Amino acid sequence: MNKQWLLAERPTGLFSKENFQLREVIIPELKDEQFLVRTIYLSLDPTQRMWAQMDTYLPAVKKGDVMRSLGMGVVIKSRNPAFKEGDVVQGMTGWQSHVITDGRDYSLVPSKSGLPLEIYLGPLGMTGITAYYGLIEIGKPEKGETLLVSAAAGAVGSAVCQIGKIKGLRVVGLAGSDDKCRWLTSELGIDAAINYRSANAWQQLKDACPKGIDICFENVGGTSLDMALGLINVGARIPLCGYISEYAATEPGPGVHNLAALISKRAKIEGFLVLDYVHRSREALGELGKWVMDGRLKYRMDIDEGFENLPDSINKLFEGKNTGKLLVKVSEPPVE
Ligand SMILES: NC(=O)c1ccc[n+]([C@@H]2O[C@H](COP(=O)([O-])OP(=O)(O)OC[C@H]3O[C@@H](n4cnc5c(N)ncnc54)[C@H](OP(=O)(O)O)[C@@H]3O)[C@@H](O)[C@H]2O)c1
Repeated sequence: MNKQWLLAERPTGLFSKENFQLREVIIPELKDEQFLVRTIYLSLDPTQRMWAQMDTYLPAVKKGDVMRSLGMGVVIKSRNPAFKEGDVVQGMTGWQSHVITDGRDYSLVPSKSGLPLEIYLGPLGMTGITAYYGLIEIGKPEKGETLLVSAAAGAVGSAVCQIGKIKGLRVVGLAGSDDKCRWLTSELGIDAAINYRSANAWQQLKDACPKGIDICFENVGGTSLDMALGLINVGARIPLCGYISEYAATEPGPGVHNLAALISKRAKIEGFLVLDYVHRSREALGELGKWVMDGRLKYRMDIDEGFENLPDSINKLFEGKNTGKLLVKVSEPPVE
């Protein structure tokens, strides 16, 4: 049997169980060129909140369809010569325990690399590629510059922070708890981390960026972006990666008041999508892999258990309850 979470209603605010319907269906026989995947991990991503609600860079998930999701699984039956039993693959599995696919848009995971499988949904997957190209291509870092990263203790943010250090930047992170800030400074080695919920966050940010901000890697938007704009230098670059402060908001946010700083500072804000860089993933993954192996790129996987809890687990992203990359484990990885 295949367990599936279907989108039942469009969410308002955080996800609730009522937005979804859990069902079990019989797994049909495979046709030629198809293979059957048992899902191991599902990647939980802020963008799924948008997919559930509206058309964006992808059409909204239709009501009654399996909730769209990136995932990883193992091939357990195959009639496709390119994917054999035991292969570990990743692709748009959706929120389901099993998937039948012809392999289009699926890729093989290097499961014999000796690294934990989940890393390929984190720093050596879409997360890492987003961090890498967002910082390198849009941020255009120069040694000695100051980089500010919002949602710094999250999946993308924690990778950006460390790539920034590797590139010789002064790195300052914004995060939502003192524990996250401690992790960023003491384990990931960034120069300063500020709990944006603290009363004097603005003063702390000014103190942490005595030479202003040259690059702001923006994951949050709203107040966070506004603070950064107040400190940008001439020629600053702002890679706009995400705007999570508004994805699950029920009211419009406070807005951004300091946009005019872009004029006087001749600064540039630029949105980007990782999808536009997937064809160049080999280059990024080569660098990221090297940094993981030599210990300069550390990572934390935040793995929830339980397919049934998916609607609760994904809310952790919008409540700041995750540190590092959030996944849900659906079944056991294959034993080597
Ligand atoms: N452009 C692209 O192609 C692309 C690709 C991947 C991800 N993204 C974007 O990158 C961002 C980070 O994604 P991720 O997967 O790495 O998630 P993540 O950072 O691991 O998790 C989200 C984090 O955002 C913070 N947050 C949530 N609501 C907030 C709010 N109202 N105000 C301030 N902070 C808030 C929370 O951390 P705190 O505890 O610190 O608040 C939370 O842990 C998202 O905006 C996502 O949409 C973009």
